[in-house]
Amino acid sequence: MYYPEEVLEEVRSRNDIVDVVSSYVKLTKKGANYFGLCPFHNEKSPSFSVSGPKQMYYCFGCGAGGNVFSFLQQYENMSFPEAVKALADRAGIKLPEVEYTEEARRARDRKQMLLDVCKEAAKYFYYQLRQPQGEVGMKYLAGRELSPETMNKWGLGYSNKTSDDLYKYLRSKGYESDVIIEAGLATYEEQRGMHDKFWNRVMFPIQNINNQVIGFGGRVMGEGKPKYLNSPETPIFDKSRNLFGLNYARSSRKNQIILCEGYMDVITMHQAGFTQAVASLGTAFTSGQASLLRKYADEVLLAYDSDGAGTNAALRAIGILREVELTGRVLSFSPHKDPDEFIKAEGAEAFQKRIDEAENSFLFEVRILERDFNLQDPESKTKFFREVARKLAVTFRDELERTNYIETLSVKYHVPAGELKKMVGGFAAQEGLVRVAEKPKQALGKKEDPAESIKKTQRMLITWLTDVPQLYERISKYITADDFTDPLYKEVFEKLYPPDGGTPESPASILSGFTEEADQQEIAALFQTQLETKQDRATREVALHDLIMAVKNNSFAYYSGRLGEDVDALTKVVNGKKDLEELRRTRISLEGLVSE
Ligand code: GTP
Ligand code: MN
Repeated sequence: MYYPEEVLEEVRSRNDIVDVVSSYVKLTKKGANYFGLCPFHNEKSPSFSVSGPKQMYYCFGCGAGGNVFSFLQQYENMSFPEAVKALADRAGIKLPEVEYTEEARRARDRKQMLLDVCKEAAKYFYYQLRQPQGEVGMKYLAGRELSPETMNKWGLGYSNKTSDDLYKYLRSKGYESDVIIEAGLATYEEQRGMHDKFWNRVMFPIQNINNQVIGFGGRVMGEGKPKYLNSPETPIFDKSRNLFGLNYARSSRKNQIILCEGYMDVITMHQAGFTQAVASLGTAFTSGQASLLRKYADEVLLAYDSDGAGTNAALRAIGILREVELTGRVLSFSPHKDPDEFIKAEGAEAFQKRIDEAENSFLFEVRILERDFNLQDPESKTKFFREVARKLAVTFRDELERTNYIETLSVKYHVPAGELKKMVGGFAAQEGLVRVAEKPKQALGKKEDPAESIKKTQRMLITWLTDVPQLYERISKYITADDFTDPLYKEVFEKLYPPDGGTPESPASILSGFTEEADQQEIAALFQTQLETKQDRATREVALHDLIMAVKNNSFAYYSGRLGEDVDALTKVVNGKKDLEELRRTRISLEGLVSE
């Protein structure tokens, strides 16, 4: 941890989560909590809740949850220290000098050094392009119809014909050889010695969302191999978490991103006014990039090449987008090859038209699938529909959504909607069974996994305790940390009610103590689960009684099964039995704690 606990606690407590979240999400008060549309997944009705008393947020739809720090981490893609800094600034708190460990400080200095050297190299390339020796590069770029403004905006450059002048220049600026090599700007080989990675190419600097240069792509002017040479991955250049052009596209305010594969495509699109365009970095599109895009857009338009490779890349990207619940649509540039060529041939207006007509990604998949079948042949046709039905069943959970697709497809392929629906139903039933086993959370109305239902009772009991704090005094006689057989819940319970009489922690501060995102989400879920509060006291007492009995019965069974391995198990079993007998005769009263 970088900052002392007290400092974190102060920053947290001086930034009310409702205020902070409100500046990003429109919230409406409902009971003790606030609700809004979840910023972390696509939804139409609000399942994102923020609790003032608990200082936490939780989404019932996607399970995102945490405290004010994790909100900024998730929403703004900040690191933990960055979130702390931002919130400290917001509350006017001056943070103490950061206590970096020696190792962390060295890593940070190293990264800064790599950023510095890349920036210096970008300036050098930029300068060369605008000198007499860069004229070839200038001619090439002008030939590709880029205006001087466009070249400046993207910081385009040129690497000279000599094969070590950048290296020499950077050395003269004081950068050590190992930094220059680590940044991917030069390599050392025994025979040739030190030489530049890029020479005699037009240079495309690659920037992160903070406009820092993190790498380069260099293109040969004309024919030659490789056509594009890209920087290797380095500590500052993670190709699976950055996108070319996102630093500009993020503020295009189009609520839509165009994703393509080429730097030239991005630049041409921006020049034509389509400032929502980005490209992957010479590698396949990743789920890390998809989650990044979800922060800026609801919909991604795929602008891949018209050839087979482009189609395959689009099919892969559709799957990845679906995983993060982003809507995808596919752009067609036929008869041209890619966005760059399309815009040059047909202009911006025609391009906008293609955007408006972009194909729904599922229908695109079906259209591509169709190529593998012969619809004139009854047998092949049947296979095709089975495949479509299976795809519908696994892709869409929502009944209405499925029905809409079934209708569209039945019209398109002239099959009775009822038949297709029956087939989808069959696959959906199979799919449902698979899903229940792997994802108990989704198993609405279906039988629950016993382990999950035990966890659920423990979770509910903690929810009761945090919602009705005075309840603890009335049940502490029967319930102790040992009754929570789930290790995470046990740990949380011990923080809420320290066994040695230490100071209890608040929910939000307990959450800060967990660094794993999965733990944080689970704890947020724990505190944010909602109790039924509309019922009268008697009904709620019965519910609470059943809950306590379930938790006690489980722990009794749990320790009974461990008599051989746990030295304290016998005591726990004996006490548990006593408690259970007593509880059967008593009922914990909620008098004065809940409304009658
Ligand atoms: P132009 O011919 O300049 O229009 O290229 P393009 O933008 O149409 O790119 P293309 O479809 O050929 O390639 C798309 C992207 O793949 C490029 O922007 C590069 O990132 C990457 N790429 C292309 N060719 C090569 C290559 O030879 N080697 C490597 N490593 N990457 C390449
Ligand atoms: Mn091209």
